[in-house]
Amino acid sequence: MSAAPWDDDFIRRRDAARERLDTLFGAKGGNREDRSTWFDAVYDTAEGDPAAVPWADLAPKQELIDWLADKAAAGESALDIGCGLGDNAEALAAAGYRTTAFDLSATAIQWARARFPQSPIGYRAANLFDPPPEWIGAFDLVHECYTLQALHGELRENGFAAIARFVAPGGRLLVISRSAEEGTESSGPPWPLVPSELARFAALGLTCEETFAYEVRRGERVIPHIRAVWRRGNGYPGQGV
Ligand SMILES: C[S@@+](CC[C@H](N)C(=O)[O-])C[C@H]1O[C@@H](n2cnc3c(N)ncnc32)[C@H](O)[C@@H]1O
Repeated sequence: MSAAPWDDDFIRRRDAARERLDTLFGAKGGNREDRSTWFDAVYDTAEGDPAAVPWADLAPKQELIDWLADKAAAGESALDIGCGLGDNAEALAAAGYRTTAFDLSATAIQWARARFPQSPIGYRAANLFDPPPEWIGAFDLVHECYTLQALHGELRENGFAAIARFVAPGGRLLVISRSAEEGTESSGPPWPLVPSELARFAALGLTCEETFAYEVRRGERVIPHIRAVWRRGNGYPGQGV
């Protein structure tokens, strides 16, 4: 897998992109159309430069790799939500999962396919809030990294149930996100997840199996994160959004 060339020029291009993207419609939140317009614009205006996609590491998240290390799969199904340029999805496939990955941006999906031409992954352009019906309750592992934290207001309200409904009976949900203490005001995006929000997955029929709190350092900044795993019982009755 290719790694981002974090040299001075890459960092300069990323900083410039962040500044430009912050001025575009939908950058600071909004409804489904507003945010979709912005995410589409991020990928469409990047012109193939990964430095211009602010979250693109061009490598899977280490915390995903660590979690997968002792959980080799034998063809179980996995779904990667908001897959961007595909690195996390490729890590799921490399661990043995029959992986589907989707993003609302058709450009992101084309880009992921181009980066990984031999990939066994079914990359799809799809919207979390209007997914193919056959995905409901269909995946042994659902992986969500950094999508919820990019949503606000009504979209975020609905995001928890939209994600949880993909988990098959007996299946697991793995969430990786920025985190914050309860009551923390954040001027996102991103808007870190607080404990009461994470607890919503329990109300959606999932049982929390593990949580791992960690920090990501960006220069002087220390950014709290969480990796958490839930499991659905075997009596999944179907969960609407
Ligand atoms: C902050 S990025 C994270 C990308 C990737 N998961 C990662 O960890 O690098 C959020 C991604 O979710 C996608 N996204 C946002 N809203 C979505 C929606 N409603 N349906 C599908 N994808 C969505 C965006 O296009 C973007 O690629």
